[in-house]
Amino acid sequence: MIVRTPLIAGNWKMNLTLTDSVSLIKSIAEAIQELTNVDVLVTPPYTSLSVVKETIGDARIALGAQNMHWESKGAFTGEISGLMLVEAGCTHVILGHSERRSLFQETNEMVNKKVKAALEQGLIPIVCIGETLEEREGHQTFDVIQDQLNGSLAHFLVESIIPRTTILAYEPVWAIGTGKTATPEQAQDVHQYIRHWVEGHFGKDTADHLRILYGGSVKPDNAGELMSMPDIDGALVGGASLRPEQFIPIIRF
Ligand code: PGA
Repeated sequence: MIVRTPLIAGNWKMNLTLTDSVSLIKSIAEAIQELTNVDVLVTPPYTSLSVVKETIGDARIALGAQNMHWESKGAFTGEISGLMLVEAGCTHVILGHSERRSLFQETNEMVNKKVKAALEQGLIPIVCIGETLEEREGHQTFDVIQDQLNGSLAHFLVESIIPRTTILAYEPVWAIGTGKTATPEQAQDVHQYIRHWVEGHFGKDTADHLRILYGGSVKPDNAGELMSMPDIDGALVGGASLRPEQFIPIIRF
């Protein structure tokens, strides 16, 4: 049986000063010293990347960004490229987060271009998908997930191949920042569906290795139960990733 090392990823969104970032990283680094069976990732705002990188030093904390443009350079005021993220020390990038999709009109087509560009630059993409409350109540969850997967990974469907290091994150929109978590069973149902989809398009080996994170109001008291599900390979944590007293217990789930 394939053992997928769980990944606990903190999505800081537009939060934390430089001073707060440094102190949070120091607390995480100290807390995970002895932990070897879990991977930890933080994704600070762009302006904190270099300071966070420096603070991480040799600690086993990976660094990622929350978004990027698909072009590597050019006249795109306000944008950041994958090349720049690599230079800043990033190994990962979150793409297609629901806040990007709903507040900044990011489409599946744009996410697809970003995923392709990220992989070309050597970054590991964390591709986010998830349904709204209305879609869930309208029994459209699986259709929406399938649509987002087909669109956001369109480039890779052509060749039927995607690096198995690629990470997917199921984040039901109704659970993000609301305090409402999907039940472990609800999340597992969708994760299993996603893994079957991956297997159908990219084969069993990729489906066995690829990590699928759950995101949406993950807290110390629900992390363990969620992570005990067979197809949940970690968490993408927003609010609770900003405070060591919440993030560290989640890492130690
Ligand atoms: P939350 O956010 O943990 O605050 O619900 C999760 C996310 O948006 O990635």
